[in-house]
Amino acid sequence: MIGALSSLASRTLFAFDPETAHGLSIRALKSGVIPPCRLPEDPRLVQTVAGIRFPNPLGLAAGYDKNAEVPDAMLALGFGFTEVGTLTPKPQTGNDKPRIFRLVEDRAVINRLGFNNEGHAAAFNRLSSRAGRPGIVGVNIGANKDAVDRVADYVDGIRRFYALATYFTVNISSPNTPGLRDLQARESLSALLGAVLAARAEEAVRHGRSVPVFLKIAPDLTEEGLDDIAAEALAHPLDGLIVSNTTLSREGLKDKSMANQAGGLSGAPLFALSTRVLAGMRRRVGPALPLIGVGGISSAEDAAEKIRAGADLVQLYSGMVYGGPGLASTIVKSLSTILDRDGVSAIRELRDTRVDHWTAMKL
Ligand SMILES: Cc1cc2nc3c(=O)[nH]c(=O)nc-3n(C[C@H](O)[C@H](O)[C@H](O)COP(=O)(O)O)c2cc1C
Repeated sequence: MIGALSSLASRTLFAFDPETAHGLSIRALKSGVIPPCRLPEDPRLVQTVAGIRFPNPLGLAAGYDKNAEVPDAMLALGFGFTEVGTLTPKPQTGNDKPRIFRLVEDRAVINRLGFNNEGHAAAFNRLSSRAGRPGIVGVNIGANKDAVDRVADYVDGIRRFYALATYFTVNISSPNTPGLRDLQARESLSALLGAVLAARAEEAVRHGRSVPVFLKIAPDLTEEGLDDIAAEALAHPLDGLIVSNTTLSREGLKDKSMANQAGGLSGAPLFALSTRVLAGMRRRVGPALPLIGVGGISSAEDAAEKIRAGADLVQLYSGMVYGGPGLASTIVKSLSTILDRDGVSAIRELRDTRVDHWTAMKL
């Protein structure tokens, strides 16, 4: 039933342009017309990562619920965790429309939204109204386009949401804010992580609880760039890396008409690239640092393969554009089936089993 409703929902939304469809889907989730799909917990899928107990390894990636309007509705769809944002201190409108494009043949999306969001205060009020409810809600933080001091915007995010976030994601990998990805360069990254993690340490003392901080990186880095990020991740008390954001590459697309649109590409064509970068990162950082694999997941097999390539947890966004709101529960249920099939007693046993395969892959 949920499968039929889910595909009906995504087919209906396809009648609208992508940004209108996104707004309608948020309204539908808020209104409760999309039925929740509470899954019984499979103990084999439960893991503690960065000190947080995750009921299953599948999360909603940042960018769908930018303004923290529907975190509980997303969790009710079967996601083990959800991530709101990217949130910037001041509200901003983002780039001119149209700025989201579907590449249907490729099961992909190009977006150049540019961190459109209602700002910290609006999201803070929404998250405050759900404070104390169960469910893992990460807060993804960024910098305003016109920020004079970008690092200060990230520090603001940590301080503002400290009491409400289960974890933070420091997003320095959106391709749609000019210069943002420059924060991935070694010296800038070191200064950013130093400031963000110092703010976290102060807040941890004040609140009596250390909130994990993850760093979200791009898939378009050079080998040297990845070396630098790995070195900085290990040099600071960072809790993990999210690999990856959207790509600037247009390699291998069938839909040539949209390929020239500026912005970040996500969905199926990002799977191989982001998975190879993930495996390369696992090899660099060793077994202890948590990694979250994102990019092109649309099935339980895709999710399992990210875990085999080095991920502790995974996230998706674009897959849901094509698969509908029932996708999360379908994937989580099918992960259990994969464990049955492979005679595996805990999902973490899959981790790293195909790191070599992915790092050797030529794209
Ligand atoms: C429309 C859209 C908006 C996005 N906005 C954000 C964002 O605000 N912050 C962020 O960190 N990632 C953002 N992303 C990137 C996703 O979180 C994810 O990293 C990327 O899309 C790859 O995953 P996917 O192939 O499953 O979509 C956005 C992606 C899409 C498609």
